[in-house]
Amino acid sequence: MALAKQALIQQEGMHMATRVTVIGAGNVGATVADCVARKDMVDEVVLVDIVEGMPQGKALDMQESAPIHLFDTRVVGANSYDATEGSDIAVITAGLARKPGMSRDDLLSKNAQIVRSVTEQLVAKSPDAILVVVSNPLDVMTYVAHVTSGFPDQRVMGMAGVLDTARYRAFIAMEMGVSVRDVQALLMGGHGDTMVPLPRYTTVSGIPLPQLLGEARIDEIVERTKVGGGEIVQLMGTSAWYAPGAAAAEMVEAMVKDSGRVLPCAAWLTGQYGIEGLFIGVPVRLGRRGIEEIIEVELSDNERSLLEESASHVRENLTTLERLQSS
Ligand code: NAI
Repeated sequence: MALAKQALIQQEGMHMATRVTVIGAGNVGATVADCVARKDMVDEVVLVDIVEGMPQGKALDMQESAPIHLFDTRVVGANSYDATEGSDIAVITAGLARKPGMSRDDLLSKNAQIVRSVTEQLVAKSPDAILVVVSNPLDVMTYVAHVTSGFPDQRVMGMAGVLDTARYRAFIAMEMGVSVRDVQALLMGGHGDTMVPLPRYTTVSGIPLPQLLGEARIDEIVERTKVGGGEIVQLMGTSAWYAPGAAAAEMVEAMVKDSGRVLPCAAWLTGQYGIEGLFIGVPVRLGRRGIEEIIEVELSDNERSLLEESASHVRENLTTLERLQSS
């Protein structure tokens, strides 16, 4: 929750609505709104899209599921930003989705325009919000939202690591026949094929993964995780939404509840891991102010060079964006 609002509540003992806005009511955005609403932890979820009637229809549909799922969250759909005023957290999913054969980078220029425009409109109504960017290419779109909003570093972040880690954990659980509850893992780096897996920081109920699975099998799981998004695009012709939506909602929950969860998020680095001036996936502690802390874990030389490779891929994307913008 925004700090100023939190202080008012504490000082005056008043209740002010907690509002989470989701921009883009497509597959991912609608799933984020649905997951957040079902968690019954905020007063209102506002779903915004440019398509007339669509966010209103989806919001009403979700609201009608409340008696079954048992939540009191109000779900509102809108085409303008008036309804988003004073949002505590905004999740940006507006943009084009990846089609078969299309790389995340192909989306760069078009989605940058969209993310810039929605960020401008959002921050005009919600100057204290925390921004969670989902639109691809993720690490660059988070940068666009950061620059456009002018918000402090800790209030702008990207969602990718929670999804990539969830896929990795799901594949390990499937391979080993264990519960996903017992699989803990950490993936770092950029979203996509250059992500940095850390098997030695992966455990099954505390037991390091390399003690349970052979190197070749771990490598196969890592490779499947790296192309996990593409695997779904190949199957159904568009990108995933259930796991991405649930992942963004998990980040929202950590901040709304000020829980201090440690999750991999794209964060603005200012020298951590030897990287400066980039958004890239690292473990962070999330709380009501957004990113409360960037956690630096020890990396081997190989892991560090994979992270640097990932960072140079993000840097290349930023350069491409700058070139496209100046031409
Ligand atoms: P979608 O096409 O189902 O939904 C996108 C929505 O954005 C559409 O409803 C569209 O009308 C809306 N939109 C476009 N311009 C807008 C604007 N100016 N203002 C408000 N709304 C606008 O796409 P989907 O599947 O929901 O994906 C959304 C984005 O999320 C894509 O960029 C996709 O690549 C990305 N994504 C990112 C993931 C991650 O891990 N970070 C995972 C999955 C998707």
